Amino acid sequence: MKTLTIADLIALKQRSEKITMLTVYDATFASLIAGLGVEILLVGDSLGMVVQGHNTTVPVTVDDMVYHTRCVAAGCQRGAFIVGDLPFQSYDSPQTALQSAARLMQAGATMVKLEGGAWVLPIVEYLTQRGIPVCAHIGLTPQSVHQLGGFKVQGREAEAAAQLRADAIALQTAGAQLLVLECVPRQLAADVTASLTIPTIGIGAGPECDGQVLVLHDMLGITPGKSFKFVRDFMANGGTIKEAIAAYIAAVKSIEFPAEEHCFA
Ligand code: KIV
Repeated sequence: MKTLTIADLIALKQRSEKITMLTVYDATFASLIAGLGVEILLVGDSLGMVVQGHNTTVPVTVDDMVYHTRCVAAGCQRGAFIVGDLPFQSYDSPQTALQSAARLMQAGATMVKLEGGAWVLPIVEYLTQRGIPVCAHIGLTPQSVHQLGGFKVQGREAEAAAQLRADAIALQTAGAQLLVLECVPRQLAADVTASLTIPTIGIGAGPECDGQVLVLHDMLGITPGKSFKFVRDFMANGGTIKEAIAAYIAAVKSIEFPAEEHCFA
Protein backbone atom coordinates (compact mmCIF):
# COMPACT_ATOMS: atom_id res chain seq x y z
CA MET A 1 0.00 0.00 0.00
CA LYS A 2 1.31 3.47 -0.94
CA THR A 3 2.17 5.75 2.01
CA LEU A 4 0.14 8.92 1.76
CA THR A 5 1.69 12.38 1.77
CA ILE A 6 0.24 15.72 2.77
CA ALA A 7 -0.25 16.47 -0.93
CA ASP A 8 -2.39 13.30 -1.22
CA LEU A 9 -4.56 14.46 1.71
CA ILE A 10 -5.03 17.89 0.11
CA ALA A 11 -5.95 16.16 -3.17
CA LEU A 12 -8.62 14.16 -1.30
CA LYS A 13 -10.07 17.45 0.01
CA GLN A 14 -10.02 18.93 -3.49
CA ARG A 15 -11.87 15.87 -4.83
CA SER A 16 -14.35 16.06 -1.90
CA GLU A 17 -13.35 12.53 -0.89
CA LYS A 18 -13.60 12.13 2.87
CA ILE A 19 -10.45 11.36 4.86
CA THR A 20 -10.47 8.74 7.63
CA MET A 21 -8.42 8.98 10.80
CA LEU A 22 -8.44 6.84 13.95
CA THR A 23 -6.41 6.92 17.12
CA VAL A 24 -4.04 4.02 17.66
CA TYR A 25 -1.50 3.32 20.37
CA ASP A 26 0.13 -0.05 19.61
CA ALA A 27 1.67 -2.08 16.81
CA THR A 28 -1.10 -4.67 16.38
CA PHE A 29 -3.88 -2.14 15.92
CA ALA A 30 -1.61 0.05 13.79
CA SER A 31 -0.99 -2.82 11.39
CA LEU A 32 -4.70 -3.71 11.29
CA ILE A 33 -5.97 -0.16 10.86
CA ALA A 34 -3.38 0.86 8.26
CA GLY A 35 -3.97 -2.41 6.38
CA LEU A 36 -7.71 -1.73 6.21
CA GLY A 37 -7.03 1.64 4.58
CA VAL A 38 -7.50 4.29 7.27
CA GLU A 39 -5.55 7.21 5.83
CA ILE A 40 -4.19 8.79 9.03
CA LEU A 41 -3.18 7.05 12.27
CA LEU A 42 -3.28 9.41 15.24
CA VAL A 43 -1.15 8.51 18.24
CA GLY A 44 -3.39 10.65 20.41
CA ASP A 45 -2.62 11.79 23.92
CA SER A 46 -6.10 10.37 24.59
CA LEU A 47 -3.95 7.37 25.49
CA GLY A 48 -3.73 9.05 28.90
CA MET A 49 -7.42 8.24 29.32
CA VAL A 50 -8.02 5.02 27.36
CA VAL A 51 -4.67 3.28 27.95
CA GLN A 52 -3.33 4.78 31.19
CA GLY A 53 -6.70 5.24 32.93
CA HIS A 54 -6.45 8.93 33.84
CA ASN A 55 -9.45 11.28 33.76
CA THR A 56 -7.74 13.75 31.42
CA THR A 57 -4.81 13.89 28.98
CA VAL A 58 -2.85 16.24 31.26
CA PRO A 59 -0.60 13.56 32.87
CA VAL A 60 0.74 12.31 29.50
CA THR A 61 4.46 12.97 28.94
CA VAL A 62 6.71 13.22 25.89
CA ASP A 63 8.29 9.91 26.94
CA ASP A 64 4.84 8.27 26.86
CA MET A 65 4.17 9.68 23.39
CA VAL A 66 7.56 8.59 22.09
CA TYR A 67 6.99 5.05 23.38
CA HIS A 68 3.55 4.71 21.75
CA THR A 69 4.63 6.41 18.51
CA ARG A 70 7.46 3.85 18.24
CA CYS A 71 5.00 1.01 18.83
CA VAL A 72 2.65 2.32 16.13
CA ALA A 73 5.47 2.91 13.64
CA ALA A 74 6.76 -0.62 14.26
CA GLY A 75 3.33 -1.96 13.27
CA CYS A 76 3.43 -0.06 9.98
CA GLN A 77 6.66 -1.32 8.46
CA ARG A 78 5.27 -0.68 5.00
CA GLY A 79 4.55 2.93 5.85
CA ALA A 80 1.59 4.98 7.10
CA PHE A 81 0.75 8.62 7.72
CA ILE A 82 1.27 8.86 11.50
CA VAL A 83 0.36 11.97 13.48
CA GLY A 84 1.84 12.15 16.99
CA ASP A 85 0.35 14.37 19.68
CA LEU A 86 2.59 16.82 21.48
CA PRO A 87 1.40 16.40 25.07
CA PHE A 88 0.54 18.97 27.76
CA GLN A 89 3.24 21.63 28.29
CA SER A 90 5.63 20.06 25.78
CA TYR A 91 5.36 23.01 23.35
CA ASP A 92 5.10 26.10 25.53
CA SER A 93 8.09 27.73 23.81
CA PRO A 94 9.41 27.25 20.26
CA GLN A 95 12.59 25.58 21.56
CA THR A 96 10.72 23.16 23.83
CA ALA A 97 8.33 22.40 20.98
CA LEU A 98 11.21 21.66 18.61
CA GLN A 99 12.82 19.26 21.08
CA SER A 100 9.53 17.44 21.76
CA ALA A 101 8.54 17.33 18.09
CA ALA A 102 11.97 16.06 17.01
CA ARG A 103 11.62 13.15 19.45
CA LEU A 104 8.21 12.22 18.02
CA MET A 105 9.46 12.47 14.43
CA GLN A 106 12.46 10.28 15.26
CA ALA A 107 10.10 7.76 16.86
CA GLY A 108 8.22 7.49 13.55
CA ALA A 109 5.67 10.32 13.34
CA THR A 110 5.03 11.92 9.95
CA MET A 111 3.50 15.02 11.54
CA VAL A 112 2.96 16.39 15.05
CA LYS A 113 -0.30 17.77 16.45
CA LEU A 114 -0.65 20.57 18.98
CA GLU A 115 -3.66 22.20 20.61
CA GLY A 116 -4.47 25.89 20.64
CA GLY A 117 -5.30 29.01 18.62
CA ALA A 118 -3.51 32.34 18.48
CA TRP A 119 -0.93 31.53 21.15
CA VAL A 120 0.53 28.59 19.18
CA LEU A 121 1.08 30.56 15.94
CA PRO A 122 4.79 31.31 16.59
CA ILE A 123 5.29 27.65 17.51
CA VAL A 124 3.62 26.42 14.32
CA GLU A 125 5.82 28.78 12.29
CA TYR A 126 8.96 27.71 14.13
CA LEU A 127 8.33 23.99 13.61
CA THR A 128 7.19 24.17 10.00
CA GLN A 129 10.16 26.36 9.04
CA ARG A 130 12.36 23.55 10.39
CA GLY A 131 10.77 20.76 8.37
CA ILE A 132 8.29 19.48 10.95
CA PRO A 133 4.76 19.20 9.55
CA VAL A 134 2.09 20.41 11.97
CA CYS A 135 -1.54 19.49 12.51
CA ALA A 136 -3.33 22.15 14.57
CA HIS A 137 -6.23 21.29 16.91
CA ILE A 138 -8.89 23.86 17.91
CA GLY A 139 -12.40 23.88 19.37
CA LEU A 140 -12.45 21.64 22.44
CA THR A 141 -8.77 21.28 23.34
CA PRO A 142 -8.66 18.52 25.99
CA GLN A 143 -5.28 19.61 27.43
CA SER A 144 -7.06 22.82 28.59
CA VAL A 145 -9.99 20.96 30.15
CA HIS A 146 -9.43 22.49 33.57
CA GLN A 147 -9.42 25.99 32.14
CA LEU A 148 -12.46 25.26 29.94
CA GLY A 149 -14.35 23.90 32.97
CA GLY A 150 -14.99 20.47 31.42
CA PHE A 151 -15.28 18.69 28.08
CA LYS A 152 -17.74 21.18 26.53
CA VAL A 153 -18.78 22.21 23.02
CA GLN A 154 -16.83 25.31 21.91
CA GLY A 155 -17.67 28.21 19.57
CA ARG A 156 -21.37 28.47 20.39
CA GLU A 157 -21.39 32.24 21.04
CA ALA A 158 -20.81 34.65 18.14
CA GLU A 159 -17.57 36.02 19.58
CA ALA A 160 -16.08 32.57 20.21
CA ALA A 161 -17.14 31.45 16.73
CA ALA A 162 -15.47 34.48 15.13
CA GLN A 163 -12.29 33.77 17.11
CA LEU A 164 -12.29 30.15 15.98
CA ARG A 165 -12.73 31.18 12.31
CA ALA A 166 -9.85 33.66 12.62
CA ASP A 167 -7.63 31.11 14.42
CA ALA A 168 -8.18 28.55 11.66
CA ILE A 169 -7.05 30.95 8.92
CA ALA A 170 -4.11 32.17 11.00
CA LEU A 171 -2.97 28.59 11.72
CA GLN A 172 -3.06 27.76 8.01
CA THR A 173 -1.07 30.94 7.25
CA ALA A 174 1.46 30.02 9.95
CA GLY A 175 2.08 26.71 8.16
CA ALA A 176 -0.30 24.14 9.66
CA GLN A 177 -1.16 21.53 7.03
CA LEU A 178 -4.04 19.77 8.76
CA LEU A 179 -6.61 21.02 11.28
CA VAL A 180 -8.56 19.01 13.83
CA LEU A 181 -11.88 20.60 14.86
CA GLU A 182 -13.23 19.08 18.07
CA CYS A 183 -16.76 19.56 19.42
CA VAL A 184 -17.85 22.67 17.55
CA PRO A 185 -21.25 23.45 16.01
CA ARG A 186 -21.76 21.83 12.62
CA GLN A 187 -22.27 25.10 10.70
CA LEU A 188 -19.15 26.66 12.19
CA ALA A 189 -17.06 23.63 11.20
CA ALA A 190 -18.56 23.74 7.70
CA ASP A 191 -17.67 27.45 7.35
CA VAL A 192 -14.10 26.86 8.57
CA THR A 193 -13.68 23.90 6.22
CA ALA A 194 -14.86 25.97 3.24
CA SER A 195 -12.50 28.81 4.14
CA LEU A 196 -9.32 26.69 4.17
CA THR A 197 -7.17 24.98 1.54
CA ILE A 198 -5.81 22.51 4.14
CA PRO A 199 -8.02 19.58 5.18
CA THR A 200 -10.09 19.73 8.35
CA ILE A 201 -10.66 16.57 10.40
CA GLY A 202 -13.70 16.70 12.65
CA ILE A 203 -14.65 14.97 15.88
CA GLY A 204 -18.06 16.13 17.00
CA ALA A 205 -17.90 18.77 14.25
CA GLY A 206 -20.27 17.44 11.61
CA PRO A 207 -20.05 15.76 8.20
CA GLU A 208 -18.92 18.84 6.25
CA CYS A 209 -15.37 18.50 7.61
CA ASP A 210 -12.94 17.03 5.07
CA GLY A 211 -12.41 13.99 7.28
CA GLN A 212 -13.36 12.37 10.57
CA VAL A 213 -11.47 11.06 13.57
CA LEU A 214 -12.64 8.99 16.53
CA VAL A 215 -10.87 7.53 19.52
CA LEU A 216 -10.48 3.81 18.72
CA HIS A 217 -11.81 2.60 22.07
CA ASP A 218 -14.90 4.83 21.72
CA MET A 219 -15.83 3.55 18.25
CA LEU A 220 -15.30 -0.04 19.41
CA GLY A 221 -17.66 0.67 22.33
CA ILE A 222 -15.13 -0.36 24.99
CA THR A 223 -14.39 2.96 26.73
CA PRO A 224 -15.46 2.16 30.29
CA GLY A 225 -18.50 4.00 31.60
CA LYS A 226 -18.60 6.63 28.87
CA SER A 227 -20.68 7.39 25.80
CA PHE A 228 -20.45 10.59 23.82
CA LYS A 229 -23.06 12.19 21.55
CA PHE A 230 -20.60 12.43 18.65
CA VAL A 231 -19.50 8.77 18.73
CA ARG A 232 -21.04 5.78 16.98
CA ASP A 233 -20.32 2.38 18.50
CA PHE A 234 -19.40 0.39 15.38
CA MET A 235 -19.44 -2.86 17.39
CA ALA A 236 -23.01 -2.31 18.64
CA ASN A 237 -24.42 -4.93 16.27
CA GLY A 238 -21.70 -7.49 16.96
CA GLY A 239 -19.20 -8.64 14.37
CA THR A 240 -15.42 -8.47 14.48
CA ILE A 241 -13.09 -5.57 15.19
CA LYS A 242 -11.98 -5.73 11.54
CA GLU A 243 -15.60 -5.42 10.39
CA ALA A 244 -16.21 -2.49 12.75
CA ILE A 245 -13.20 -0.57 11.41
CA ALA A 246 -14.20 -1.35 7.82
CA ALA A 247 -17.73 -0.12 8.63
CA TYR A 248 -16.28 3.12 10.05
CA ILE A 249 -14.28 3.71 6.87
CA ALA A 250 -17.33 3.01 4.69
CA ALA A 251 -19.60 5.25 6.81
CA VAL A 252 -17.16 8.19 6.71
CA LYS A 253 -16.48 7.82 2.98
CA SER A 254 -20.20 7.69 2.16
CA ILE A 255 -20.91 10.63 4.53
CA GLU A 256 -23.31 8.42 6.45
CA PHE A 257 -21.28 9.12 9.62
CA PRO A 258 -21.48 11.50 11.38
CA ALA A 259 -25.28 11.70 11.15
CA GLU A 260 -27.49 14.46 12.49
CA GLU A 261 -27.65 12.87 15.96
CA HIS A 262 -23.84 13.08 16.29
CA CYS A 263 -23.72 16.84 15.57
CA PHE A 264 -23.99 19.96 17.72
CA ALA A 265 -26.32 22.66 16.46
O1 KIV B 1 -5.78 12.61 21.56
C1 KIV B 1 -6.68 12.37 20.75
O2 KIV B 1 -7.16 11.25 20.62
C2 KIV B 1 -7.18 13.47 19.93
C3 KIV B 1 -8.43 13.23 19.16
C4 KIV B 1 -9.58 13.28 20.07
C5 KIV B 1 -8.57 14.18 18.02
O3 KIV B 1 -6.60 14.52 19.93
